[in-house]
Amino acid sequence: MDKILDNIDLNSKAPFDEPDRQYYFMAKCREYVAAKKKELNRPLFFNIKTFGCQMNAKDSEKLTGILEAIGYEQAENEIPDFVLYNTCTVRENANLKVYGNLGNIKKLKKKNPEMIIALCGCMMQEKEVVDKIKKSYSFVDLIFGTHNIFKLAELMYEILTNKKKVYEIFDKNDLVVENLPSVRKYSFKCGVNIMYGCDNFCTYCIVPYVRGREKSRKKEHIIAEIENLVKNGVVEVMLLGQNVNSYGKGLDEKIDFATLLTEIEKIEGLERIRFMTPHPKDFSDDLIRVMKNSKKICKHVHLPLQSGSSRILTAMNRHYSKEDYLNLVDKIRNEIPDVGLTTDIIVGFPGETDEDFLDTLDVVSKVKFDSAYTFIYSKRTGTPAAKMENQVPEDVIKERFDRLLKEVQSGSAYRNKLKEGTTERVLIEEVNSQDKSLCSGRLSNNSIVHFKCNKDMIGKFVDVRLDEAKGFYYYGTIISNDEAVR
Ligand code: 5AD
Ligand code: SF4
Repeated sequence: MDKILDNIDLNSKAPFDEPDRQYYFMAKCREYVAAKKKELNRPLFFNIKTFGCQMNAKDSEKLTGILEAIGYEQAENEIPDFVLYNTCTVRENANLKVYGNLGNIKKLKKKNPEMIIALCGCMMQEKEVVDKIKKSYSFVDLIFGTHNIFKLAELMYEILTNKKKVYEIFDKNDLVVENLPSVRKYSFKCGVNIMYGCDNFCTYCIVPYVRGREKSRKKEHIIAEIENLVKNGVVEVMLLGQNVNSYGKGLDEKIDFATLLTEIEKIEGLERIRFMTPHPKDFSDDLIRVMKNSKKICKHVHLPLQSGSSRILTAMNRHYSKEDYLNLVDKIRNEIPDVGLTTDIIVGFPGETDEDFLDTLDVVSKVKFDSAYTFIYSKRTGTPAAKMENQVPEDVIKERFDRLLKEVQSGSAYRNKLKEGTTERVLIEEVNSQDKSLCSGRLSNNSIVHFKCNKDMIGKFVDVRLDEAKGFYYYGTIISNDEAVR
């Protein structure tokens, strides 16, 4: 990276084309940061806090790449010179967390008055939020949204040189800027965007409003990115999109998600492919066939249910019924018997009756998911559901939520127990945070197993016997390859 930036003529005008323009501003900022470090006789530190989903995690890796190219160092335990919150707004809780954190950061700024405080991500695409921050959190220096994260260096340059606040939010952006720096959190696995935005407009969901319309990346760009990652030690990729199985819409090349997977499978050295999130309405037979025949695509499908009631599913604009969902699950399980199935479920969508809720419980008890994320419905201003009558009272939701959780846990325990005693191929991901003598690894079906292991083995595949099922994870033992059953 330094080599690329060294070759940029800092006396020339900023180029118009991307990504050259951003490299130019990275070089300009780097010059400024180097002088500041000299003046202070210490490094400049940054800290990024990421809220929300895998898309945001991926965006934060890109933002980290830009900040490191500029010359900042990431540090959790230092008083930062640059703080960035990459926000989420899918549920109100996520917003509240950001406001809470901003209170703390204000205090920290007193210790380092030159600290730059920046906010980006989905929450910043909401006008009311930005108005509130400008009014009540005026110590925030930089606000940008989901469509211009690639411009961080340019926006930083404006702040560093003009010492003025910068607020820049785009309503939409048709430009996909490729080939900017990115720093990976894990050396051996990585998320790869295959599409941005969402066109589904589920009536409860704010994502289409803050992430914009669906836009698929070109196949060549995706393949080139993965090939490059593999060259740099990545063995597992997670293909990311709000609705991955509608991949290809709007591209010149006629291509669908199943075909894209087939192409990615051919990349030598790549061992595992995951994807997140498919929509049940677009889950084609072709996709099931490709998964079934693949040696690399992990046997895991995250299939958001949202509700088990056909009536509520219609009100949610999900385009499938309870029966469609159950049939799809049967089809997937028949073709890929050891598949791990996980889901998202919302409790308390407007108008949800006891009967509707019993349908949700019924699906959960029939499917017995390996695990499920359960959410209390959160009213998001601007979505159709926010204006619906019959919002469900809090106490009713709470009672349903607890019942749902019990049903989910019993399903997870059932699935988890089925594999007890078997040996599975596992990618070792990290040292266990609670017991440092253990490492945690992931099975193809996305379950986690903890086992005694040396941290030097992180990023390697091993065969692990699943000794004890613990509900939704396992304790296990590494088995020598000779004994392993694959
Ligand atoms: N309230 C509660 N949960 C929501 N989700 C999306 N919008 C809302 C909302 N308004 C959940 C959905 C989705 C997951 C990412 O977040 O279950 O699949
Ligand atoms: Fe939201 Fe539905 Fe799009 Fe998922 S598919 S991001 S729930 S609108």
